[in-house]
This record gives sequence, C-alpha cells and structure tokens, in this order.
Amino acid sequence: MAVGDWWRHGVIYQIYPRSFQDSNGDGIGDLPGITSRLDYLNDGTPVSLGVDAIWLSPFYPSPMADFGYDVADYCDVAPEYGTLADFDELLRQAHRRGIRVLVDFVPNHTSDRHPWFQASRSSRDNPYRDWYVWRDPKLDGSPRNNWRSYFPAVGGAWTFDAATAQYYLHSFLPQQPDLNWWNPEVRAAMHDVLRFWLDRGVDGVRIDVAHKMARDPDLRDNPPPLASGESSSGRRYDEDWPEVHTILRGFRRLLDGYGDRMAVGEVGIYDPARLVRYFGEALDELHLAFNFAFLTQPWRADAFRDSVDLYERVLPAGAWPTYTLSNHDNPRARSRYDGGDGRSGLRRARVAAMLLLTLRGTPFLYAGEEIGQADGEVPPERVVDVHGRDPERTPLQWDGSRGAGFTTGDPWLPIGSEAASVNVAAQRDDPASILSLYRQLIWYRKGSAALRWGSYRSIGTAPGVFAFLREAGTERLLVALNFGDEPAALDAGSLGLPSVGRVERSTEAARPLAACPLAPLELGPDEGVVVRL
Ligand code: NOJ
Repeated sequence: MAVGDWWRHGVIYQIYPRSFQDSNGDGIGDLPGITSRLDYLNDGTPVSLGVDAIWLSPFYPSPMADFGYDVADYCDVAPEYGTLADFDELLRQAHRRGIRVLVDFVPNHTSDRHPWFQASRSSRDNPYRDWYVWRDPKLDGSPRNNWRSYFPAVGGAWTFDAATAQYYLHSFLPQQPDLNWWNPEVRAAMHDVLRFWLDRGVDGVRIDVAHKMARDPDLRDNPPPLASGESSSGRRYDEDWPEVHTILRGFRRLLDGYGDRMAVGEVGIYDPARLVRYFGEALDELHLAFNFAFLTQPWRADAFRDSVDLYERVLPAGAWPTYTLSNHDNPRARSRYDGGDGRSGLRRARVAAMLLLTLRGTPFLYAGEEIGQADGEVPPERVVDVHGRDPERTPLQWDGSRGAGFTTGDPWLPIGSEAASVNVAAQRDDPASILSLYRQLIWYRKGSAALRWGSYRSIGTAPGVFAFLREAGTERLLVALNFGDEPAALDAGSLGLPSVGRVERSTEAARPLAACPLAPLELGPDEGVVVRL
C-alpha cells in the first residue's frame, strides 16, 4: 500500500466514546467497551462492517462542560473512559485487525480547569497569562469587541474574571477559554501534544475547529451578519484568519515526520472555494478537510448533484474530497431526511448510504448511521448539552434489551424509543436491513478500483435522479439514485452509455442482481443502484 492510500481509499467511522459501549455498568461508554466491539467494525470478513479506520471523539480528562471538547489534560484518559493502558490496548487490538485509529485534537481552546488556564487566570503577571486572550474592559465596562460565542445560548465570547479584572475570550463556552496562538510557547506545547499521541502509535488526528486558532491580532469588531454571501457568518475577524494556514503547515510538517499519518480538519466553512484553501497552496496543510455540505442540503437530487459537482470543480489537483452524512453535532441523517411519516427517513438513509459509499472521496460514517438509528428523544429534564445536540448522541443501539446492549446501568442519555426494533442484533442477519446494505456497500467498495480511486462524472439526469459514472481502467460503474418517492426512469442509453448493464448493488434488497436494460434504467421509489457497464 502506498503512502496516503489508507485515508484516501478507506472508510472512516466516528465513535463518540461516551455513547458507544459501556463496559462497567456506569452508564457511560468507555475505551474497553470500544475494544470489545472491534470485531463488529472489522474482523477481516464481510460478516463485519469492514471500516478501515475509527476516529474517536475526545476521551481526555475533562469537566465535560462540552463533553470532552473542554480538555483539562491533553495527555491522559478521563477516568470514566478508562486509562492510558486501556487506550494502548484499544490501539493494539485495532491495529491487529487492520483498523487505523484517529484521535481528536482540540487546539483552539482548553478547559478552564486546565492547569495552563488556572495559572493564566491567577495573576496578570503569571508566565501563562499570555497563553490565553485577556483584555481590559472598555471604559463602560463592556468587553473589548462584539465577538459572539458559537453557541447562541452563551451570547458574547468574552467572560469577565473578577480576580484580575479582565475579560478572557472563549469562542464556545466560558469553560472553554481560547488559547493565544500568537504565543510561540502555545504552539510548542500543542506540538508536544501531537507528538505524545503520534509516539503512542495513533494513525492521525481529527482537528477540532481547524479554521479557528488564529484571529485578528487587533481584535476588531466583526461586521453585522449579512443575509447571504461570503461573510454570511459575519465572522470576518475571529475565524479563517490567514495565520491559521501557518499553524496548519506546522502541524503538517510534524505529521510528515512520522510517515504515513494524517490530519482531517473540521473546517466549518460552507463555501467550497474557501474550504479548499485548507489543503494548502502546496498541498502542505490538511490531508483531508470535512465537507459538511450534505448536512444542510435539502433532500433533492439536483441539490446533491450540484454540490458534488461544485466541490469536484474547485478541488485543487491532488487534493482529496471527503463526504459525511452526520456527526455528533448534527441531527442524524435518518431523522433529517424523514418526511414526517416515520418511514421515508429510513428509505432515504439507504439511498444516502449508497451515495456516500460510491462517491469519489473518503466516506466518514457516524456510529449508528449504519443501522439507521434516529435521533433519540431527550425530555427536558434529561437535557445535558447547551447546544441541543443530545438527540444525535444517545447510545448506540446494539440489541433490544433495556440498556440496548450499551449498558447494564442507567445510560447517561436515554436509549432511543425504537431501540427494541432498530438495533444491531435485529439487523445483523437480515439481508434486507440497512446494516446489511452498509456492510455490502463497504465491502463492494473495497473490491472496486473505480469506487476507491476512479474518476467521477455526473451525467444528465431524469428529474429527481442523481446519476454519475465512476471509472478506473476498464472498470466502469454507473450509480443512479432516485431521490423521489415515485418510480423514475433514466435513459442512460441516450447518454452514450451501453444499452445493457449489470445491477450489482441496490438499496432494494428484492431487486435481482442481474443484467438489466439501461434505455431506460427503471428505478423504484427511493431506490439507488450500482450498475456495472
Ligand atoms: C466542534 C466539535 O465537534 C463540537 O462538538 C464542539 O462543541 C466544538 N467544536 C468546540 O470544541
């Protein structure tokens, strides 16, 4: 395998450790729990899901104000998740199965309990003072500028600390003070954090808010948000600042020193032309940058086609796309695409799975997506997240038991109401289940050069159908996805394609995998097919 192959051509599976598998009955998922489920993820045979890598959301010591994205110690494991020895064992067991491991790297901010911040806030002349962003109040007592937290519930991005009578900056919660990346000591310390995990053997990192870190040194006021357009977020001065690219190049140099490791950045920028700058002019920044376009698009064939075509157009030569349908910050695909009847979401989630696993680019799956898990119902008294993200974080549904096979104790978030029927155990042996579909598509992708690294070209569509070709050498595949709930027909023959092909995969388990006419290719409601030409 050549350098870089694994992260370009593999499937990466996101695990939110708190919700994946509890091993000790405390209701909270943990690292030994993840280790115990590795065979499910990939045991080397098509009985397993077959993913090539896992990305673990943070498992570091943390007061959990933002469930681990407020890190109090970058180089240890939170007691509720286990120990460093548990992590080493997880890594060893994953590698034994050929599964790579990415850890979450959170460089923009620490927890307010991190010793660096504790020192920083202790006095104005503490050596760590400048590791964070402290400013005097204005004459009227208000904060230095108008920057807002990303969490609307928080409001402003500054909190006044009475002990030293200054404000500190936090782009998220007040418990997540922003580091001052203009300070070279901060850069060196965070490089040490990277080295700590790379030396332990991790295969890469997911970088939290990789478009943050650097900001206007003059801390100018952001302009008011525009209705639309490039600066629609209104965040001209507090994100996507040019210096961030220097910081990312520093990470890249460090990673390159370790050989075949990688970084995928969470770049919360929805304008593809701006997003692709994060690969670096000399492709010397991020290996991969999340493209979150699918998370906000309406369920329409033309919307998905336009977005993929646009991304393919603006992607610099040599850069590699990624796609994702959900993560721990967004409603799950199954729920997002539900038309309100409780059934269409699952049918559409199947079509979305085929899309994700047949596009040119690295697919990122979010644990639970493969069983069509819906957002959980979280009653007001159980809400724990300040930003409304509990529903997509409810525990993974392994079986129909009381704790869904996730825990023998009381789960930290309620188990989804459908767990008795929507779970791994119920779907594992059912060839028509969405889990079987995911498994088949992932293994099919492994065996197909066209899907793993072939070219992509969308072709003229029938209304409601997104169709594209994937080609490598003599392998030619046509993927046709019906986004509508009525049958559709795509006249592939008239597009210069052969008049007959062989259906090799369908989202409809009942569809025969056999030769079929392409002039026209008939698709059932909400059906996607992969046809070999
Ligand atoms: C992005 C993470 O995905 C999210 O969960 C977190 O709240 C913020 N960054 C802050 O770290």
